[in-house]
Amino acid sequence: MFSDNLINLLRGDPVVTILTGAGISAESGVPTFRGEDGIWKKFKPEEIASFDAFIRNPELVWEWYRLRQSIIKDIKPNPGHYTIAEFEKMYKKFYLITQNVDGLHTKAGSREPIELHGNIMRNRCMDCAKEYLEIELPAEAAIPKCDACGGMLRPDVVWFGESIPMNALIRSEKAVNEATLFFSIGTSAQVQPAASMPIRAKNGGAYLIEMNIEETDLTPFADEFIAGKSGELLPELKSLVTMIEN
Ligand code: APR
Repeated sequence: MFSDNLINLLRGDPVVTILTGAGISAESGVPTFRGEDGIWKKFKPEEIASFDAFIRNPELVWEWYRLRQSIIKDIKPNPGHYTIAEFEKMYKKFYLITQNVDGLHTKAGSREPIELHGNIMRNRCMDCAKEYLEIELPAEAAIPKCDACGGMLRPDVVWFGESIPMNALIRSEKAVNEATLFFSIGTSAQVQPAASMPIRAKNGGAYLIEMNIEETDLTPFADEFIAGKSGELLPELKSLVTMIEN
């Protein structure tokens, strides 16, 4: 399942960059977006995950995020998240880029995940940009208001059509350019700028590994495609890498 080449690379001194998507959180009970149980099969993203949708119908958008925040508040990282946090301690240069907004990498101990699409448990004021961590949302379907200026609060996530926060872009560029070993884990590789990162890393000389339960548009470009659940594959890979050869 894991090539000798990959094991040897991981036993060496690689610059490791890992890009994760919704698939890494699937085994924690977080529905993915485009899989069989995908969220976008039930909802239209442009109706609930865009700035226009929020201006048009903030109550509906808040209802959607209130539901997702209530699910995500209680979920736990799975062995895939924990193993990535352990890998981070093994290498001098290690970067984690995530498209996920569930905060599970941080809960699992990853020090500074690059959160390309923000964090659903963080909210901010539309007017004065004051940030609110894990607010107690009003029970009724009201729109939470800023206690500093009275403006409407919104979830601190990147909606379709919005730009990635500059800090996350700058950090992820560095992670892509410096990688000698790049993992794309649990992402359908459909959404930019994340989707092009694995290919740009490979074009820059990195060895590209894709881990997914099914092939994606990225698979033909990967040096290795490893089929399976990330929560099972990652702990197994780490045990092989750290196994003392007797
Ligand atoms: N292990 C590994 N991969 C898995 C697992 C698993 N246990 N379960 C599902 N997958 C794979 C699916 O096969 C799919 O390729 O995870 C991928 C999830 O793809 P998407 O649902 O499209 O999620 P993602 O790639 O993260 O979407 C990117 O799109 O909707 C926007 O902002 C949203 O960040 C999201 C972005």
